[in-house]
Amino acid sequence: MVNRIHSLGGYIHEYQKSVANPEAFWAQQAENFYWKKRWDKTLEWNFQGPEIKWFLNGKLNLTENIFEKNLYTHGDQEAIIWEPNDTNEETRTLTYAELYAEVNKFANTLKRLGVEKGDRVAIYMPMVPELAISLLACARIGAVHSVIFAGFSANALAERINDSSCKVLLTADGGFRGEKITPLKEIADEALESCASIETVVVLKRTGSDVNMHVGRDIWWHKAVDGQSGDCPATEMDSEDELFILYTSGSTGKPKGIVHTTGGYMVYSAYTFKNVFQYSAGDVYFCTADIGWITGHSYIVYGPLLNGAKTLMFEGIPTWPDAGRFWDIVDKYQVNQFYTAPTAIRSLLAKGNDYLDGKHLASLKVLGTVGEPINEEAWHWYHDHVGKNKCPIVDTWWQTETGGVMISPIAGVTPTKPSFATMPLPGIQPIIVDGEGKELTGNSVEGNLCIKYPWPGIARTLWGDHERFKETYFSTFDNFYFTGDGAKRDEDGYYRILGRVDDVINVSGHRLGTAEIENAINEHPLVNESAVVAYPHDIKGQGIYAFVVCGELSTGGEEGIRKSIKQGVTKIIGPIARPDLVQLVPGLPKTRSGKIMRRILRKVAEGDATNLGDTTTLLDEDVVEKIIQGAQVEVKV
Ligand code: PRX
Repeated sequence: MVNRIHSLGGYIHEYQKSVANPEAFWAQQAENFYWKKRWDKTLEWNFQGPEIKWFLNGKLNLTENIFEKNLYTHGDQEAIIWEPNDTNEETRTLTYAELYAEVNKFANTLKRLGVEKGDRVAIYMPMVPELAISLLACARIGAVHSVIFAGFSANALAERINDSSCKVLLTADGGFRGEKITPLKEIADEALESCASIETVVVLKRTGSDVNMHVGRDIWWHKAVDGQSGDCPATEMDSEDELFILYTSGSTGKPKGIVHTTGGYMVYSAYTFKNVFQYSAGDVYFCTADIGWITGHSYIVYGPLLNGAKTLMFEGIPTWPDAGRFWDIVDKYQVNQFYTAPTAIRSLLAKGNDYLDGKHLASLKVLGTVGEPINEEAWHWYHDHVGKNKCPIVDTWWQTETGGVMISPIAGVTPTKPSFATMPLPGIQPIIVDGEGKELTGNSVEGNLCIKYPWPGIARTLWGDHERFKETYFSTFDNFYFTGDGAKRDEDGYYRILGRVDDVINVSGHRLGTAEIENAINEHPLVNESAVVAYPHDIKGQGIYAFVVCGELSTGGEEGIRKSIKQGVTKIIGPIARPDLVQLVPGLPKTRSGKIMRRILRKVAEGDATNLGDTTTLLDEDVVEKIIQGAQVEVKV
C-alpha cells in the first residue's frame, strides 16, 4: 500500500527527504507495487533532449496492481459505484472481482479484434462503467488508449484518431447528459469518413437510439463480449511503455497528444491520490470530472483503483434534474471525498442556497477543486455551505502533462488559504522564474511557474512529435519544465496560480488554444481573419471573446454572421469552444510588422481600455478606437 502522510511535521519531513534524494524517495514509493521484474535504475533524465525515464527496465502490468495484488483482500468490495443520469434508473456497482472479470472479458474481446500491444485504441464514450472498463482492458493487454471527450465534434474526433492512427474505436449509440442525448455513433460515423486507420468500431448500447451499423466494421459491444473468458493474462510491459495518449490544446492550432508511460504514471497517480485526499479504506470518493479529461484518468480510474478505493462515477450534469443533484448523490452514497471544478461550484452558488436545504452532507470529510483558479467567494461558499466549515479544501494545481497533482494542500495536514494551491507535494520542486529564466528565490515573488526536477508522472513526449514537446515545455527556459502558468509565492511560501501566460485560455476548467478556435472561425466563408482572447466570466472563469474581420456581410446581417460563426466553431471543435462573444471589427490592431497586438484586445475584452500601454508600434490607431466603440462589453476609456 502507498505510504500516507499524517501530519504537517510528517509532510515537512517527507518533503525534505524527497528533495534531498528524489530517486530514493520515489524508489521507496515504487516498492509498494507489484513488479514482474524490479527496475535496475530509478531515474535517467535530462531536460535538454528532453529524455525522462523512470524505473528503467522494470517490468509490470498496471492492472495487476489493481486486481491480482488486492483481490484476495477486497475482491468483494465495491470498486466502481455508478450513478446514472436519470434518477429513475438503477445504480450499478462493480466489485473488484466483478470489475476484474469485465476488464478481462473486454481485454479478450480487443485481442480477438486484432488489437496488439502498442496499438492505439480510440475511446469516445459516455460516462458509463464500460468507459472505465475499456481503459483498464487496454492497459491489461498493453494497448495504448486515447480517450476523446464525448463533447468533441466529428472533426475534432477525426483529427485525434488520425494523429495517432488508432486501430479500433470504442463508442456508444449515444450518451445521456441532463435532458439531452449526444448522438455519439452518428458523430463517430461522420468522423470515420476521414479515418483510414480504424478497422473496427465497437458500439455500446446505451440510449437505444437508432444507429447505422456498417457491415464489416461495426459490432455491438454486448455481442463482441459475449462468450469471452473472464481470464486474460496481463501483458508484460516495460516501465516506459506507453500507457495512454490524451490530447490537450496548446498555443498553436493542432492538439497535442500527451504521452504517459506505465510505471511512473502508476506510482504517481496512486501516491498523489492517497495523500492529497487522505483516502482511508472504506471511504466513498466522488470525482465529478469526465474520464475524457486527465482528472478522470488519474482520479476516477487509476489513482483510486490502485488504492483499492470505492470510486463513484456520475453520468449526468450538476444541474439536472436540479441544482441539488451533486448533494443528493453525496447523501445517497455517503460520499467522503468530493472533487470538482470551480466552475461547477460557481454555477451552483449562483443558483442559491435553496438547493442545499434538506441535504445532510454529513459524510463529507474532504473537498477538492481542480482545473482553474478558484475565486475567494466560491472557495468560502464551498467551505461554509457544502463542507459546513469542517472539511479541508484541497485546491489541486496540475496539468494533463503532469499526470497527477503537483501543488496542493494535503487534506487536513496543510493549513489552507482561500485560492492558494499552497505547497508542492513531496518530490515536486517548483520554481518561479522571471522573463529571462532567472530563478526568483525567497518569498513574495511572482513570475512564470516552472519545475526543476522530474517526477514519475511527467509526460514523456507528444505522440509523433518529440520536437514539439521540447519546444513547448523545455525551450522557453533552459533546464526547466515550463508549465505555461503564472504564479506567485507569497510571504508564507504558499503558491497561488495566476492563470496561463501563453495563448491558452481556460473556459469552465477546459483548456483551449486560442489558435485552435481562430482556425475554426477562419473556416467561415465570410471571415478574413480573427483573434480570440479570454474575458472574465462569472461562471466559466473565462469566456471566449472573438474579434472577427469579415469581407462582407451576408443577408442575415451582423447578427446572422455572429450566429453562424458560433455554430461553425461548435461544428469544428465542439460546444466547449463556442465563442461567447463575437465582435465584427473593421481590422485587428497590428504592429507594422503584421503581428496582432493581443494585449490590446485582452484589455478591451476585460472592459478596461484606460491603459493600453505602448501603442506606438500600431499600424493603424483608428482600428483600436472602432474596436472599443463596438465592444460587446462595457469598456472604461
Ligand atoms: O492553468 C492551469 C489550470 O489548468 C491548466 C491545466 O489544464 P489541463 O491540462 O486541462 O488539466 C486540468 C486538470 C488537471 C493549468 O496549466 N489549473 C489546473 N488546476 C488549477 C489550475 N489553475 C489554478 N488552480 C488550480 N488548482
